[in-house]
Amino acid sequence: MAMTGVLRPGHAQIRVLDLEEGINHYKNVLGLIETARDKQGRVYFKAWDERDHNSVIIREADSAGIDFFAFKVSDKATLDKLDRDLQEYGLKTSRIPAGELLETGERVRFEIPSGHQIELYWEKTDIGTPETYTNPPPWTDAAERGIAPIRLDHCLLYGPDIEKVQDIFTKVLGFYLVEHVVMEDGKTDLAIWLSCSIKAHDIAFVRHPEPGKLHHVSFLLESWEKVLRAADIMSMNKVSIDIGPTRHGITRGTTIYAFDPSGNRFETFCGGYQCYPDWKPIKWTWEEVGTGIFYHDRALNERFLTVVS
Ligand SMILES: [Fe+2]
Repeated sequence: MAMTGVLRPGHAQIRVLDLEEGINHYKNVLGLIETARDKQGRVYFKAWDERDHNSVIIREADSAGIDFFAFKVSDKATLDKLDRDLQEYGLKTSRIPAGELLETGERVRFEIPSGHQIELYWEKTDIGTPETYTNPPPWTDAAERGIAPIRLDHCLLYGPDIEKVQDIFTKVLGFYLVEHVVMEDGKTDLAIWLSCSIKAHDIAFVRHPEPGKLHHVSFLLESWEKVLRAADIMSMNKVSIDIGPTRHGITRGTTIYAFDPSGNRFETFCGGYQCYPDWKPIKWTWEEVGTGIFYHDRALNERFLTVVS
């Protein structure tokens, strides 16, 4: 498919309760590369195989959670068009000047009905080295330190009005519905998985009464063996593991859910199928929701629907 418009998830800004603890987790346990710190005290990270300057930003705060989740778009014309389209749809947008987030161009921010702040931007400094672009090795030393995911891959957000959220993402931003879970009535969606690419999801939502909540940000690994290695590293570092290693029925990814020291859930996963916008969405029924979320246990754990940050 043509890759135009919204390209991919770009960055997530996450609140942590203790900055030093957060830095240790994201750098030494998760194995992201620290790329900068700014005057506000925020710390910036990228995964070893990402080229742009940052994908995860953490800041210290009194409560954990996510400040915003951003998508990179293909160019300035697209950014301006999507800003206009969002306003015409009825959403209020604001422009955040270039440089407010280090090495990142102007951002368009808007709140979606689930209570989350979503951003679009098109410029972020490419910090790939000469080795990235000429005769590159398949991996570097940084690919061995900590869990070392390839990239920030997607997030799962909890909030109300997810049908309105789906309308915005599909009608304005060009996403398509890949999978969904329906509630007991057989009609109302409990959860939706949306893609702007050929990934099974770039963002997902679960219906939840409280707005603006984070279920998890997710990081991609190359293999099931790396998922197992991630679980080893989590245990070596006394990371609180929610579930896994296991497999999702939905998207087919192999996965671990765990918590950062502040209680923000994160996922390290591998796999999942590739899909296309012309594919009909896959439906999971209420009776099989446990199988959809955790394919082997065939049941949700209590935490899946209740523990968010
Ligand atoms: Fe996920």
